[in-house]
Amino acid sequence: MVSREKIELAKERFGQLLEEQLKRVENMKAQGDFIDYKSLDQIIIGVCGGDGIGPAITAQAERVLKYLLKDDVASGRIVFRNIEGLTIERRAEENAAIPPAVLEEIKKCHVILKGPTTTPRKGDPWPNVESANVAMRKELDLFANVRPVRIPEQGIDWTFYRENTEGAYAVGSKGIHVTEDLGVDFTVVTSQGTERIIRAAFEFAKANGKTRVTAVTKANIIKTTDGKFLDIFREIAKEYPDITADDWYIDIMTAKLVDEKRRKDFQVVVLPNLYGDIITDEAAEFQGGVGTAGSANIGKKYAMFEAIHGSAPRMVLEGRDKYADPCSMIRAGAMLLSHIGYNKEAEQLYKALDICTVSEKKLVITGRDTGATGEEFADYLMETIEAMNN
Ligand code: IPM
Ligand code: MG
Repeated sequence: MVSREKIELAKERFGQLLEEQLKRVENMKAQGDFIDYKSLDQIIIGVCGGDGIGPAITAQAERVLKYLLKDDVASGRIVFRNIEGLTIERRAEENAAIPPAVLEEIKKCHVILKGPTTTPRKGDPWPNVESANVAMRKELDLFANVRPVRIPEQGIDWTFYRENTEGAYAVGSKGIHVTEDLGVDFTVVTSQGTERIIRAAFEFAKANGKTRVTAVTKANIIKTTDGKFLDIFREIAKEYPDITADDWYIDIMTAKLVDEKRRKDFQVVVLPNLYGDIITDEAAEFQGGVGTAGSANIGKKYAMFEAIHGSAPRMVLEGRDKYADPCSMIRAGAMLLSHIGYNKEAEQLYKALDICTVSEKKLVITGRDTGATGEEFADYLMETIEAMNN
């Protein structure tokens, strides 16, 4: 084929992508307000174990949540529902990021507690299906990926608001090989998608007494999309005169997070998808690693809570899944509790986590048989909560 024809083909594919994205804009415009959980008689929590160490650590988080919510589980206000099938085997079999029947079940729940799922990459035995997390974020329109990192003894209390449906991820699996030599990926920013994440970050800051919101982009180079993100940030910041709004480029921000004198000053950070992906791993590392960090994926209708790390298949191969640290999933569970209005229970859980992982630390998880199992750790946590309440 001559290159002119290849270009025509690529243009056609590009046109389809633009149509899909414009449809998404229309959907965003038509979207209602955030769901009010307080008004619900019943809240259904769907639990997907995922792959690798996922089922092991998710089971421990579920136990802890059931313990904290036991009265409301007994009364029927809270229902835990196990959702089978969000596994790499089933996804491979159906060649789907999320098997349609599983997605249907997920959509019948209000919130989802989700263990890590395997993301296939080239060379894996699996078909190269899209990541299940990314697909779920898109399908349920979970636009705000909220990732807190707290290290009280170092004065660090950060909350990252990572945009979760756009940027490099929006059509990340739909780039175009124009010719054998030329590959093109796309990054997408919309006014609606940017406004809602930036507003969510400022609203969080306002509701939680935070005095600073920082935007992170690379708008000096990626002028159209990051430029748009930053312009909208500056516009919306004017509506919050009591909050200091500043912006940094991703490269220097990455450096500043290791600057012990300056990093304490950051509070709420709002950023496009890929920068958020990268910097939240870096931030979690200071807190003790990605195994310690939970993550909330929040949309107006649904919300999903997960660990920020992967499924660690090697740990399972080596028979170590029961030693995997469930703290990431338990922290995700704490975020779930406060999201659906159980703030008192969430606070108890955070407090107990501080006791069990920082101040008292009677059990230590090492990821191997030199440390405690996830189950033993969850028992310790529940005993600690029990003792706090007596
Ligand atoms: C995360 C993960 C995911 C992402 C992967 C597993 C698809 O790294 O939640 O940060 O890139 O968003
Ligand atoms: Mg990541």
